[in-house]
Amino acid sequence: MKTLLLASNNKGKLRELQFILADLPLELVTPADLGLTLDVDEDGSTYAENAVKKALAFAKASGLTCLADDSGLEVDALNGGPGLYSARYSSKPGATDKNRRDFLLLNLRGKPRPWTGRFRATVAVAGPEGSVQIAEGTCPGQIISEERGTGGFGYDPIFLLDGTDQTMAELPEETKNRLSHRARAVQAAKKILLERFGKI
Ligand code: IMP
Repeated sequence: MKTLLLASNNKGKLRELQFILADLPLELVTPADLGLTLDVDEDGSTYAENAVKKALAFAKASGLTCLADDSGLEVDALNGGPGLYSARYSSKPGATDKNRRDFLLLNLRGKPRPWTGRFRATVAVAGPEGSVQIAEGTCPGQIISEERGTGGFGYDPIFLLDGTDQTMAELPEETKNRLSHRARAVQAAKKILLERFGKI
C-alpha cells in the first residue's frame, strides 16, 4: 500500500486527518510513527506559505509524500485575529488551549455581538522531490462566551457553527469531520492525492 505522511505534531489535528482520509487506500503515518522529530518554524505570512513549508520539510526529511495543514480562527471584531497566530495566541508562555480561549474572550469583552468569524485551513501536499499543491476550506460561525462540549480541540468549545445550535465541541466527531474547514480542505486535497498516487 502507498504511504502518506501526515505532517503535524498536533494530536487533535492528526486524529481528524486520519478520520477524514480513512476512505483512501493509503497507509497513513505520523511523524511519531517514523520517530521523526522536526519542528518547522511557522513564520510565513499566509496559511498557504506555512502549510507548504511544513509539507516540504517533512517530505524531504522522510522521503515520503506529505500532507500538512495550517489553520486558524478569524474573528471579525478582532480584524481577523488571532488568524495565523491562533496556536500562539496568549499572554503567557506554556499556555494551554483553555488559556487561549480565555484570552480570546478577554479581548472580545465589550465588543458588540454577534462575534462572527470563521475557521480557515489550507492543506499542502508535497513530494520529496519538491513538488507541492494546495487546497483550502473555511467554516463560518460565531464565538460564544461560555464553553460548551468536550469534543475537538483548540477553540471548538466556544465556536458555534453557523446553521446549528451546537459548538464544534458538541458536534459528534463524524459531523465535525464532514463540516469543518479542515474537512473541506482535505476533501479538495483528495483529488490531488488521487492524481499524485496514480489513482492509487
Ligand atoms: P496550526 O495550524 O498548527 O498553526 O494551529 C492552528 C491553531 O488554530 C490551533 O492550534 C487551534 O488553536 C486553532 N484551530 C485550528 N483548527 C481548529 C479546529 O478545528 N478547532 C479548534 N481550533 C482550531
